[in-house]
Amino acid sequence: MYGLPRLTHIDDETARTVQAVGVSMLVETMNGSAEGTESTVLGPFHMTESPRRELGDSIDFLGTGRPCVVSGRVLTADGTPLPDTELDVWQCSEDGFYDVQQPDVQPPGNGRGLFRTDGGGRTVVPSHYPIPTDGPVGRLLEATGRHPYRPAHIHFIASADHHRPVTTHAFVADSPYVDADAVFAVKRGLIADFTESFDVPAAPETVGARARLGAAGSGRRRIRRVRDLAVGQLPAPTRRGGGTQNASA
Ligand SMILES: [Fe+2]
Repeated sequence: MYGLPRLTHIDDETARTVQAVGVSMLVETMNGSAEGTESTVLGPFHMTESPRRELGDSIDFLGTGRPCVVSGRVLTADGTPLPDTELDVWQCSEDGFYDVQQPDVQPPGNGRGLFRTDGGGRTVVPSHYPIPTDGPVGRLLEATGRHPYRPAHIHFIASADHHRPVTTHAFVADSPYVDADAVFAVKRGLIADFTESFDVPAAPETVGARARLGAAGSGRRRIRRVRDLAVGQLPAPTRRGGGTQNASA
């Protein structure tokens, strides 16, 4: 209850330092679940409540980057679509900044959305940026000859009743730094192909949400990615049967 808010409230630089030296990823790996989609670090910018949005809503309010359409489903570990799942999504802008870093440029909640899957289990989402280097983290990276960049990614937290929440990313396969994340959070299974398309916008029934892709590049090309997330069942002593569901993302 108090852990993350206290950490982010007291000192964001401390949180960034922990991530930049790989401790966050080490702890995450030691405590991650073998079920469902692989988890990874929360990251330093989940620091504001995502605004509630409807499926199909855009999370981009700048309108300056390459449009990106992302869709997918939340599944149980055995692959069954899981309706009524809360999906928290956040990403940086096409310039590599989160809304909280640019209060004079981005409206609050830009690049963020809190969605809920529908009966078909459909859900959503969609960006590379440097972690802030104006403090000790920057000096640490400089002293050790490391760059501060994270590969383009979209953050997700999927939460459903009776299932273990999963905090994860979708990394853009051809993004710079995908093999050299400053916080070591890339797992091979979380790298996703984002394909370019000049199609008309995806049909509403296949689109969870739309957002701008902040990755490098120019030109107004539509990119679409279908992404499924699988959540494992929580150990539940009071449940009968005790069957667990195994899944892959
Ligand atoms: Fe991020």
